This record gives sequence, structure tokens and C-alpha cells, in this order.
Amino acid sequence: MSPLAFIVLGLSLVFVPSDRFQPVQAAVGFALIGYQITTAVIPRVGNAFIKRGLGGRDLSKPGKPLIPETIGVIPAITYLFLMILFIPFLFIFGSTQTSGAQMFPKTMLSPYLSCLLCLQSMILLGLMDDLFDIRWRHKFFLPAIASIPLLIVYYVDFGITSILIPNVLRNWLRLTSNSVDLGFVYYLYMASVSIFCPNSVNILAGVNGLEVGQTVVIAVLLLLNDVWYLLIGTVASPSYSIHLFSMCFLIPFMGITLGLLKYNWYPAKVFVGDTWCYFGGMVFAVVGISGHFAKTLMLFFLPQIVNFIYSGPQLFGLIPCPRHRLPKFNEKDGLLYNSYTEYGAVDATSEQARQNPPLNRKLVPIILFLEKLKLLGVVKEYHEGQWVIKKTTNLTIINLFLVWTGPIREDKLCTLLLVAQFGVGFLMLILRHTLAPMVFGFDNSWSMLNRYN
Ligand code: UD1
Ligand code: MG
Repeated sequence: MSPLAFIVLGLSLVFVPSDRFQPVQAAVGFALIGYQITTAVIPRVGNAFIKRGLGGRDLSKPGKPLIPETIGVIPAITYLFLMILFIPFLFIFGSTQTSGAQMFPKTMLSPYLSCLLCLQSMILLGLMDDLFDIRWRHKFFLPAIASIPLLIVYYVDFGITSILIPNVLRNWLRLTSNSVDLGFVYYLYMASVSIFCPNSVNILAGVNGLEVGQTVVIAVLLLLNDVWYLLIGTVASPSYSIHLFSMCFLIPFMGITLGLLKYNWYPAKVFVGDTWCYFGGMVFAVVGISGHFAKTLMLFFLPQIVNFIYSGPQLFGLIPCPRHRLPKFNEKDGLLYNSYTEYGAVDATSEQARQNPPLNRKLVPIILFLEKLKLLGVVKEYHEGQWVIKKTTNLTIINLFLVWTGPIREDKLCTLLLVAQFGVGFLMLILRHTLAPMVFGFDNSWSMLNRYN
């Protein structure tokens, strides 16, 4: 389809009224327009980005070519503008053309605007990081500040901080209520979600297409979850409008993301930059928090959670963390191999130890145990009756997959990681709607109150 036809189709979906699904139809229209703008603009601005110094070396290609970086800012800003243009279609035209007042209550305008405010701050933070390389310890917590408007709107509009307790635990503790009020702690949890989502996307990176691909997979899983609620709910139920709200954010997001993926997929023509990782991760956080399903959201982030926990020893300084933990490219066969953290000699001088710290001896049994379980690649030597660990694979699930598969081509590795993300997420989706109601004795997807997501 020609670009013009794409835009015309998008605009007609936005403008032509339909009955029950007007917001979704308009969202699809904005997604088509977003896809078209992103795919048209990215190839035209690449050189300008490089001229301004916004380029990065593709470390997994022969000769490490320089390609534009921070390109994620193009779809991110396109998305912001589209979502601003979307406002009248959701809150003015929607209510007159259809019975939209019921479908998309005007009370959702403040969550909508707070989401946009939060995303705007994230794009700024991401850009600052790409331009000035902000230190990890500084940038890690900044998303929590960006999420303050969102949390305040949650407090003012909704304010529910109770979570359900599993039946077994309730009976065991002989509690009369099926929920417990976490109060302030629940706000801390939501702030942590807003810190976790952007950062976790950023550290599951370094393979062409993975930063963008994981956001596509999570968006698809969240959309499937939304469709579930729309199919079983009625227009009058609160869960209906909040999942419609979520879809209105995620469908245009899919449009711009697929446009970006076209250029970031192997062999990448552009890098997305931290701007994209923060922005993409934050889209999920804002949707989950304002849609009151911040806990369900975490089910779809399971690979990112595992990657974060697995990375813990390197992130928190227990073992050295090199600037890049991405796999090592072998120019001879064009395959990716594990990358390693190397440890200094135990008898090193203090200057040598500062440059390359030796491994804490207490960690040796744990490392050998993880190696036995095939959860870590280890290079070791037997010396004077004991094992000396020379190096271990970097602690990312990307490297873990390489431990399991052996050397593999970059696009295959990325596909494998994305298929695994989808498989785990889909399983979680099924469990969320089958096992959870049994365990908690209550399923908010059937509830008119939708209080405990
Ligand atoms: C995070 C990871 C780091 C990983 C990097 C890759 C942690 C704590 N940090 O750091 O280990 O190496 O992402 O993005 O886990 N690059 C490629 N191919 C790709 C993507 C990136 O070669 O497909 C390289 C390019 O040189 C690019 C650079 O990585 O310029 C981008 O790294 P950056 O996003 O700045 O790294 P961090 O987010 O700080
Ligand atoms: Mg990054």
C-alpha cells in the first residue's frame, strides 16, 4: 500500500464514526498514521543525527559500522503528538457520535493527561541520557519523579490500595477479609513499577531488534489482556472503560513501534538509544498504573524481572560490571558468542586489583553450583587443590541463552528471546485468567467493581 493510501486509511478510521468501537477504530487510524510518519522520517534524519554526534558503533558487525543512534526519539515524539491529537476524538467527538460518554468517561481525562505528562518527562530524561551519558545511580530513580502526576491522579481519582490475599493464606491466618490494605506501600510499589519498567528494557539490550522487539511483545500481551476484558465485560462495567483506555494508548504505540522495528531489526540501520528504552518502558508503566493493573503488568515483564535479578550481582557491584555486557561478535564465522567478566589474580597488587578486582572466594561455590545447573558459563583452572575462576559469562539472560544454545547468529538469538518472552507472557495471561480466580476466589474480570486488579 502506498504511503498516501496508508495515511488516507488512517484518517478515515479516525474521522468516520462507528458505533461501539469508535475509540479503538480511531486508535487503529492513529497507529497507521504513526507507522507511516515513523517509517518516512527515520531514513531521512539518520545522517543529520550522525552529523550531530548521535551515532553508535554496531559492535556485532564486521568493522563495527557507525549508525545513527537515539532514533527512538522520532517515534516517541510522533507518539506524543498523535496522543495529543487523539484527545478531542476521545473526549468530545466520541461522546456525541456514539454513546461514548459511557464508553470513555470524561473522568478519564485527568489520567490521560497525567500519562502524557509522565511520558514527556521520560523522553526528556532519555534524551539527556543519550546526549550526556547520565550515571546509572542518577538516572535509575528519576522515572519515579516523572511518575508523580500519575500517582497523584491515582490517589485523587481511585485511591484503592488493597490487594487480594490468596484463599489458602486467608484461611490459614483466619482473616475475615479477603484483602489487605497496603496504604502508602502501594504507592511505593507503583513508583517502583515506574522505575523498573524503563530500566529493565534498557538492560535487556545489545542485540539488534531486542529493545524494540520486547516492547512489541509486551504491547501485544497487554492488548490481548485488554481484549479479554472487552469481550467479557459490558460497556457499563468500569473494567471495560479502563481496558479501552489501555488499548487507546497501546494501539498507536504499536504503530510507531513497528515503524521503528523496521529499521532496528537485524541488520540494524539505526539504534534506538536510551530515549526509546525509557519511553517504551514507561508507556507500559503508565498504562498499568492508570489502568489499575500494575500487578498484572508485572506478569508480562517476567523475562525482564528474571534478567534484573540475574544481573543483580553485577548491577550491585558484587562482581565487576563492564560497560557493555552484550554478546561477543566473532568476525570469522559471523556468530555471537558469550561475553565474559574477567577476574583479577588473587595475588594481584593493589593497583592491579583496583583495575581488575579478583573474585570474592566466598562466591566460588555458588558459581560452580550455577555452572552445574547450566545457569552460567565459567572458565576455570584447577590450581593447588582448588578451582580458580578466571572468568564467568556476563549476567544477562541474553548470555544465558548463549550458554544453552552455543554460538548463534544475532537475528536468531533475538527471535529466540522474543519468542520466549511471548511464550512466558502468554502462559501468564492464561494463568492470570484461570488460576488466579481459583487462588483468590475472585476474578475482577467478571466484577462490576474492578477494585482489585
Ligand atoms: C545497557 C547494558 C549494557 C549493554 C548495552 C547495549 C547493563 C547494565 N547495561 O547499557 O550491558 O551492552 O545496554 O545496548 O546491562 N549496541 C550494539 N548493538 C545493538 C544495540 C546496542 O552494538 O543491537 C551498542 C552500540 O555500540 C550502541 C550501544 O550499544 O551505541 C548503546 O549502549 P547504551 O544504550 O548506551 O548502553 P546502556 O543502556 O548504558
Ligand atoms: Mg541503553
